[in-house]
Amino acid sequence: MEWIFGLLLGYALGSVPFGLILTRLTGAGDLRAIGSGNIGATNVLRTGRKGLAAATLLLDLAKGLFAVLIAAHLWPAAAGFAALGAVLGHCFPVWLKFKGGKGVATLMGVSLGLAWPIGLAYAVTWLGVLALTRISSLSGMSAAVIAPIAALATGHEIFVPPLILLAALVIWMHRANIGRLRAGTEPKVGGGKAS
Ligand code: G3P
Repeated sequence: MEWIFGLLLGYALGSVPFGLILTRLTGAGDLRAIGSGNIGATNVLRTGRKGLAAATLLLDLAKGLFAVLIAAHLWPAAAGFAALGAVLGHCFPVWLKFKGGKGVATLMGVSLGLAWPIGLAYAVTWLGVLALTRISSLSGMSAAVIAPIAALATGHEIFVPPLILLAALVIWMHRANIGRLRAGTEPKVGGGKAS
């Protein structure tokens, strides 16, 4: 039964759409009508509000981190399920008719919560690829793929299956970005304000 509690707790926290809430509260507009239409930090950055984008990144990361930490404290065997629930909640929030974000920041948070070396590998990959390419989608997908490999390499085999599922989910959520990457039209971070 514990796994269901972990999954539900993760989903409840993960489904809070911080990017949308912050941009609405501050009058920055409706994110879903801006840039890629995504509710994540990258698209918040396209409103020209850097502080808001940083806050979205941190809050989306924190909800994943705390989902896993709280679940691990209450039901130690359910941490992996809370991780799954949190990213699923971010990508498919019931409050937004199941149309949410792409899971990159929340997966960074859950990776950190599952085991810090996994989170570190994720963050280093994400930042490294972002610094080299300035393409947010590519850095997010690269980090998602590294997470299960890092779990395996650091003796956290138990988290490999949920992290493989989550890497597959993050890549699936980026299918439009993959199309743009293949066409050479994916925008770079810092490319200016979108309309
Ligand atoms: O975290 C989302 C990012 O990987 C891509 O966002 O708005 O460029 O589709 P976006």
